[in-house]
Amino acid sequence: MFSFFKRKENTAANFLEVKTDMHSHLIPGIDDGAKTIEDSLALIKELHALGYTKLITTPHIMSDFYRNTPETILAGLEEVRNAIKAENIPVTIEAAAEYYLDDGFIHKLEEEKLLTIGNNNHLLFEISYVNAPDNLLQVIFRMQVLGYKPIMAHPERYPFWGNNFDFYGSLREQGVLLQINVNSLGGYYGPDAKRIAEKLIEKEWVDLIGTDTHATKHIQALHKTVREKSFKKLLEFNLLNKHL
Ligand SMILES: [Fe+2]
Repeated sequence: MFSFFKRKENTAANFLEVKTDMHSHLIPGIDDGAKTIEDSLALIKELHALGYTKLITTPHIMSDFYRNTPETILAGLEEVRNAIKAENIPVTIEAAAEYYLDDGFIHKLEEEKLLTIGNNNHLLFEISYVNAPDNLLQVIFRMQVLGYKPIMAHPERYPFWGNNFDFYGSLREQGVLLQINVNSLGGYYGPDAKRIAEKLIEKEWVDLIGTDTHATKHIQALHKTVREKSFKKLLEFNLLNKHL
């Protein structure tokens, strides 16, 4: 029993340093994350117990599956904020989005004000796990021309770049920030994602980390992942998380 409590305490100390989680799916019923407000509250309590004091949650926006808009997301955020207040959970919560790069995104980019992270126009995006869009670099450039600062979500989960580390380097040179999922380091997404994430850490090319929490299983995995050496090295970086 004693060692169980001790381990929890150490886990919390680690995430206290990170301060802000900027990638999660905590708004109920609008994507593949929390289904009900009770789920949302349970996940938020667990993230707070890990040491996080601020959560920037990022529902999917995908033309085919999750047709969220700033309105659906901000209405959901209000519901979650009210529930947090009613339960006196001492965390701050904000919302942005995880934009999937499809044709709908290109249209939104030109026509709408997109939801961004923090106060500096950081835009979280993901791409297909099957192949990279042909126009990836052009779309990134267009985001930048429009004043956004792109953050690529979980670059380690795109297997088609597996050994092409020069490409990750060129993305960063182009001004793209890289956000790895903490659980990649514990092997949660498989050996390739673990290897690529570790290599990105070795090269010091990691700008942000996220839990990408959809459900309790992700938080259970975090308790194990924080014991990885690569995670400890990550904590020595000046991660952007603590400045959000
Ligand atoms: Fe995500």
